[in-house]
Amino acid sequence: MRFTHHLAVATLLLGSLPALAAETTWITVGDTAWRLLAERATDARVLSTRDVAVNVPRERGPNAALVRSSERVHAVQLDADWLPQLSNEVHEQLHRCGGFVRHDSLAEALAVLHRLQGTATPALAPSYSIDDQTEVNAALPLLQDSRILSTIQTLSDFQNRLYNSSHGVAASDWLAAEWKKLATGKPWMRVSQVRHADWPQKSVKLRIVGSGNAAQTVVLGAHLDSIAGNANANVRAPGADDDASGVAALTEIIRVLADRNYRPRRSIEFIAYAAEEVGLRGSQQIATQYQRQAKAVVGVLQLDMTAFQGDLTDLWIYTDFTNAAQNQFVADLAAAYLPQLSVAYDRCGYACSDHASWTGRGFAASFPFESGFNTYNRAIHTDRDTTTTFGNQALHALKFTQLGLAYAVELGSD
Ligand code: BES
Ligand code: ZN
Repeated sequence: MRFTHHLAVATLLLGSLPALAAETTWITVGDTAWRLLAERATDARVLSTRDVAVNVPRERGPNAALVRSSERVHAVQLDADWLPQLSNEVHEQLHRCGGFVRHDSLAEALAVLHRLQGTATPALAPSYSIDDQTEVNAALPLLQDSRILSTIQTLSDFQNRLYNSSHGVAASDWLAAEWKKLATGKPWMRVSQVRHADWPQKSVKLRIVGSGNAAQTVVLGAHLDSIAGNANANVRAPGADDDASGVAALTEIIRVLADRNYRPRRSIEFIAYAAEEVGLRGSQQIATQYQRQAKAVVGVLQLDMTAFQGDLTDLWIYTDFTNAAQNQFVADLAAAYLPQLSVAYDRCGYACSDHASWTGRGFAASFPFESGFNTYNRAIHTDRDTTTTFGNQALHALKFTQLGLAYAVELGSD
């Protein structure tokens, strides 16, 4: 979907050979997308294949029952220059997005494939008790949609937030400064920027150091980067919904928890990932590093696209590349704290956002989303992904912000 309005250009490019300076890379890719790729990329080689168990809705729609199914996924080695064309082909022929995840090494691609197959039994099985009504009910009414909208607006006002452009770097610096302001005078809240070796945009992290069980960490994430059109350094890519709306939700949760001087027992980390739009690269590096350090991540919540209400359902919980037990907890949180909201289930059908990086590394991740997959915001990845597309309001985004706050407090308190 990255090249929706460039289909003509894409068609011209198809069949052309990648540039001479070949850069070998590794991806994990679903079988359907692989078949498309194999027709063109003659150098692409399948290194390993697994059948991955997934929970899928029996049909699309609000009341679909979940059934167990299986999906064939391959680890493939190929020239990096094929990847943009793969995105185009998947979009054009399968009428959906992406379809692959890029990895930094062969070992990493194989490790992710292996873990995907492992039905993701996370190392840590937290208790999903809901017992912090006092804190959650005091904090929820303080969340303001007007503040969420204003953060979305500021982030979309950068020319773009590309992972490799000066604008993308500036957006990261702005967010770090903003989070530092919120953390001022709260020594238990620490802001840092995470460097990535291969591109200039840094991920931004705010850690609330736990008061009792600080080694265990709850992660709430969104992606900071945006993309559109030809992805050149000065392209207009506002990314208001995708994913300023997720970063703004995190920012508003941080503001309210700071205001209340809230200190969880576990640690809570808010992460705005760099380089999601180019193969989940920022979150892959962070999740890989946490796994190597044997960091006890008890749960991960991804907020990617929260502002555009595509259908009548309020909260959609995506069931693929996520953890079923934690998804149940997320649905229970909605029922307990946001009983007026409707909940339904759907799936992307591929590793569509940063939650998949964590799932692939053996951590429990969930992905509550703004719409069913059939009705997602078609303006994303274009210069039309602005606040106008969702009526200059953040009432839909507010629901995900409320859910995120309940998640942070209820999982953070244990
Ligand atoms: N926010 C999207 C994912 C998304 C789009 C989810 C539509 C549900 C409906 C994300 O930023 C994205 O664009 N992901 C890529 C894949 C990624 C591996 C580069 C995509 O979907 O093409
Ligand atoms: Zn996107």
